[in-house]
Amino acid sequence: MAKRIEDFTVTEKKSLGNDLFTLELSGKNSLSELMPGQFVQVKIEGSPETFLRRPFSIHDVDYAKNTLKLLIQIAGKGTEALSRLSRGDNLNIIYPLGNSFTLPSENTRILLAGGGCGAAPLLFLGKYLKSNGCSPDILMGFRDSSRIIEYEDYRRIGEVYITTEDGLKGEKGFVTDHSVLSEKRYDRIYCCGPDSMMRAMAAYCKKNNVECEVSLENLMACGFGVCLCCITETVKGKLRTCIDGPVFNINDLKW
Ligand SMILES: Cc1cc2nc3c(=O)[nH]c(=O)nc-3n(C[C@H](O)[C@H](O)[C@H](O)COP(=O)(O)OP(=O)(O)OC[C@H]3O[C@@H](n4cnc5c(N)ncnc54)[C@H](O)[C@@H]3O)c2cc1C
Ligand code: FES
Repeated sequence: MAKRIEDFTVTEKKSLGNDLFTLELSGKNSLSELMPGQFVQVKIEGSPETFLRRPFSIHDVDYAKNTLKLLIQIAGKGTEALSRLSRGDNLNIIYPLGNSFTLPSENTRILLAGGGCGAAPLLFLGKYLKSNGCSPDILMGFRDSSRIIEYEDYRRIGEVYITTEDGLKGEKGFVTDHSVLSEKRYDRIYCCGPDSMMRAMAAYCKKNNVECEVSLENLMACGFGVCLCCITETVKGKLRTCIDGPVFNINDLKW
């Protein structure tokens, strides 16, 4: 798929509380076809520390409005600069980058499992699956109930299960502690979030013989395969997370 480097305009910025916000972006040209799991590299103007573009998953796409959305957590200088953007500001992005999730055959029982902001690609994936006749369940883990985001958006896709570490909403504990994992049988789990969560879900899937794909967030520089700073060890050798991933089948990872 051809990569494009284009200026986008911020059409909406929405705070979701707790250092999280979404940016809706619209380009002058029609969006190219985007697949769930792909990401963009964003140019952040302003300081030598943010010289390298920053990678963000495609969180949502609206072809009718010609917009794409990013879900961003403030982590450092670059994301802080993005949080100061407002409607009408410009943002230069390279897209679409990376591979995408493998899409299931009909009647596959699917779970989308995610934690916090790392779950960003799952909304686009869920909507894509729904528009292709699947109705996945969704399992989301949050540190506490104040951090629950986009619940209603996921409700429109499928049955939503929640865990919180303080137990005030949903079941207490981590995503992999949720009772739905012992009560229901899934054929395929797509998992995005903190490394420890994806590894725990991978262990569950291996034990229970469930197909599983995870989306890795290795540190990246170029984002398109030339700098080799994003290498992941796999059973197929050292692979570049930015072009051979970020989505990997857990059986290919040396976890
Ligand atoms: C394929 C991919 C998709 C991503 N999707 C999203 C997304 O949808 N939403 C989102 O908020 N973030 C996402 N990230 C992480 C995001 O790119 C980093 O948080 C961001 O680059 C940090 O930039 P910064 O200048 O604010 O912080 P920096 O000053 O660069 O770093 C601040 C802190 O964040 C850590 N950090 C930097 N990059 C990463 C990374 N890739 N993974 C984990 N920790 C990192 C640094 O080690 C440091 O501790 C994604 C990363 C990748 C590789
Ligand atoms: S980020 Fe440069 S090769 Fe992957």
